[in-house]
Amino acid sequence: MTRILAIATQKGGVGKTSTAVNLGCRLAMDGANVLIVDLEPQAQAGSALGVNLVSEDDIRRSLGLALTDSLTKAGSRESLSKIAFDRDELVSEYEGGRLAVLASEESTMTAAQNAFVTRPYSDTPILRRRLLHEFAGEFDYILIDTPPAVSSLNAVGLAAADAVISLVNPEYPTIKGAMILKEAVQAVENLTAGECKPRFLGAFMNRSNPESAWTVEDLNILEMMITGGLYPYVTDIRRDRRISRAYFDGRPAVLQHPNQSCGKQYTDLLQEVLDRMDTPEAAWPIAQLPGDGEDDSDD
Ligand SMILES: Nc1ncnc2c1ncn2[C@@H]1O[C@H](COP(=O)(O)OP(=O)(O)OP(=O)(O)O)[C@@H](O)[C@H]1O
Ligand SMILES: [Mg+2]
Repeated sequence: MTRILAIATQKGGVGKTSTAVNLGCRLAMDGANVLIVDLEPQAQAGSALGVNLVSEDDIRRSLGLALTDSLTKAGSRESLSKIAFDRDELVSEYEGGRLAVLASEESTMTAAQNAFVTRPYSDTPILRRRLLHEFAGEFDYILIDTPPAVSSLNAVGLAAADAVISLVNPEYPTIKGAMILKEAVQAVENLTAGECKPRFLGAFMNRSNPESAWTVEDLNILEMMITGGLYPYVTDIRRDRRISRAYFDGRPAVLQHPNQSCGKQYTDLLQEVLDRMDTPEAAWPIAQLPGDGEDDSDD
């Protein structure tokens, strides 16, 4: 069975793409067959995996084009196996797993986004219904990197997913972004008349500060995550330059630093995500507020 997971929040720049590529690589390093879907006009998930669509031939393989064709030309688009980019070389030193990406490009994905705006909501499940089902059985996991904002394209990603992970940074506005996203996930079932039922899998803290340096803001944010129903993960991903550097190298951090703190944090986060997929919310371990909150020296 293929499991489809979207990484999403309404706020921009919090680390959705970094999460999608690192969790996807970790799964492939562990032997799973993984497809990353770059549903983003900025095309950063592809580029973080070393795929940049530049030539006309490349652009013919863009996911944006496949989406637009699915909406407008019933049945006549390229098969997805022809447009997926094979990235097995990234994980070739590990056993067994496969890594592929459906890559994006700005003009074609923006055109797809505009096409969805003018279509009824009933077309929103098209990525799941007409595209990803082609890969049923071929991949163990499909990870969808979504655009920020609750846009038509974002809704397409949520509707395609079995489960959605959100994330925040240690900054207040990012909490609201995750809460809005949670509401959007919960609305999908009604809006698609029960066809799509993504499950909200909670939010983790990305770019976290070390606990010894926590301010009142860090504590408040964790408390707001708990009380706001975001089910904060026990594992967070620290702010770490190795993550941003790796992103621009086209080889995610988890590949370059599997045994260093950033690689280990992604491994732990992945395990928590997989556990949450198989258990009811009531059984999820969630992050706890530390001690008495005495660590507020910055404020
Ligand atoms: N834990 C981290 N430590 C350090 N840098 C990080 C971390 N997470 C993400 N970054 C960096 O922050 C920037 C934004 O991250 P990313 O592109 O993953 O966010 P995004 O939510 O996908 O953004 P957008 O909304 O624009 O799609 C990138 O340069 C990325 O490398
Ligand atoms: Mg992104």
